[in-house]
Amino acid sequence: MRYNAAPMEGLTDRVWRQTHQHIFGGADRYYAPFISPPENRIPVKKKMDELLPEANPGVPVIPQLLGKDGSCAAWMIGVLRQMGYTEVNLNFGCPSGTVTAKGKGAGMLRDLEALDRFLDTVFEEAGGPISVKTRIGVDKPEEFQAILEVYNRYPLAELIIHPRVMRQLYRGQADRDTFAAALPACHFPVCYNGDITTPQDFAALEAAWPGLSGLMAGRGLIADPALFRRARGGAPASKEELRAYLDGLYTGYTAAFGSAPAAISRMKAFWHECIGLFEGTEKLEKQLKKLREPWEYEVTVNQIFTLPLRR
Ligand SMILES: Cc1cc2nc3c(=O)[nH]c(=O)nc-3n(C[C@H](O)[C@H](O)[C@H](O)COP(=O)(O)O)c2cc1C
Repeated sequence: MRYNAAPMEGLTDRVWRQTHQHIFGGADRYYAPFISPPENRIPVKKKMDELLPEANPGVPVIPQLLGKDGSCAAWMIGVLRQMGYTEVNLNFGCPSGTVTAKGKGAGMLRDLEALDRFLDTVFEEAGGPISVKTRIGVDKPEEFQAILEVYNRYPLAELIIHPRVMRQLYRGQADRDTFAAALPACHFPVCYNGDITTPQDFAALEAAWPGLSGLMAGRGLIADPALFRRARGGAPASKEELRAYLDGLYTGYTAAFGSAPAAISRMKAFWHECIGLFEGTEKLEKQLKKLREPWEYEVTVNQIFTLPLRR
């Protein structure tokens, strides 16, 4: 079973993918955060730079598209294939209001005829392999049966199911009962995604659904970058590894953004998720939130690294 790193806009970009794979041995696949195919069909350089093969050496990346115009998505898949990618993932899961208001992401699940037309055009004009990452509905999980009927009309390379509805955003729990009930009706490999945070979760899910093609983790992997290794029976992250990882991210973002304050702001997002790896961080968490200057960041990180790791 593959262990896949979830796409997370603002976190799992090329700097993170490189650093994570280098220090922690990596995921079987890294799904890149979505890019929107531009209507004028001129690729946006900054977005494409993220996916350049030379910016992702040795990392198994699957690009993801977020769009609602099938022809435009098919064109973009062609561009990605010219860059050397084969499988491309389609996003029908993003719940953000600005995305769904335009009928994209999980907003695509509101109109299943439009979803069907979109997939029909994409498969007709671009061909496979194409996978889909989906939520189970807009308002209620009962919608998933009809959504699945649409997906089953196409030869999806894989269906990644995040069993929450759009309205839930990331609240509540992933609905594993609805996921389990839908599994027998899926005509393609299925990857489960949602609230996987411990090695025990991996073991339980693999035992429950041995036929899955993969398990995908997002927030759990940012909170513990050694999660996949631990799930395979390996060691938890050592302090030295965490130091190399977090310093590597900071250096990488400082170079990528050309600005230490921008890198610090990005690092705060990582620290917010992973500071729980250390014990007794309450005071330093507050300090981390407030700081702005590179020297303050470096001092605070040094202080955090004097604390013991939680075991
Ligand atoms: C900050 C953030 C950014 C995300 N960006 C994307 C994205 O670009 N594409 C996507 O399909 N899902 C995106 N997601 C959803 C995750 O891929 C994943 O489905 C979700 O976090 C649930 O998995 P988890 O419980 O393992 O975190 C994002 C989630 C978060 C919290």
